[in-house]
Amino acid sequence: MTAKNSTRITWLGHSAVLIQTAKGANILIDPYLKGNPSYPKDLELPSKIDYILLTHGHGDHVGDAVPLAKSHGATVVAIFELADYVAKKGVEHTVGMNLGGTVQLKDVSATMVDAKHSAAAADEDGMHYVGVAAGFVVTIEGGTTIYHAGDTAVFGDMALIRELYEPKIALLPIGDHFTMGMKEAALATKLIMPEVVLPMHFGTFPILTGTPEGLAKLVPPGVKVVDWKPGDVFEGC
Ligand code: NI
Ligand code: MN
Repeated sequence: MTAKNSTRITWLGHSAVLIQTAKGANILIDPYLKGNPSYPKDLELPSKIDYILLTHGHGDHVGDAVPLAKSHGATVVAIFELADYVAKKGVEHTVGMNLGGTVQLKDVSATMVDAKHSAAAADEDGMHYVGVAAGFVVTIEGGTTIYHAGDTAVFGDMALIRELYEPKIALLPIGDHFTMGMKEAALATKLIMPEVVLPMHFGTFPILTGTPEGLAKLVPPGVKVVDWKPGDVFEGC
């Protein structure tokens, strides 16, 4: 099996990831790039981003979605109210969806799932209601299933995500303060039982104190916690 046949997941720091499927779809989730202190400076995005998935309206997740969508002609996929918000900011192609629903994006299906977190978008006119916070389960045709939890506390219905979608890879926030910390993320891992945990939302700022090594000590046997750095690529999945 060569890398060409597998999905590549590149961590762009914080909760921003680039997913590239074997068939060539390029998907960004929560593209907080310019203002992101942990964005790898020399990393160049592919020349064409197809889709941008947003978990919620906070600035460290919407990030550069609007300018990127405009320059790449990318489609922004988000909860209905947030999709409407970015459309009003001039994004031409949007897909508004809601919790529990699935949309087909090239060779990928994206299901919007629960998250326990607040959500609003701030701009020069103040705070705007942009729906609730969500996560995504990304299922790649002939490939793997990836759960990106967005910003969230641990919640019991993560067991439903396991029952319904059986994600092999879980991108989980571990930083604490604004999301779950390591103790809670370890319980989330027990509820989801992925093969691999890719930790995120830590280290960007000093208050996001969780670490992959710390989480690795707490997860059930058989679950691999990847100790990665922004710019690292996880593949072979
Ligand atoms: Ni948030
Ligand atoms: Mn956040």
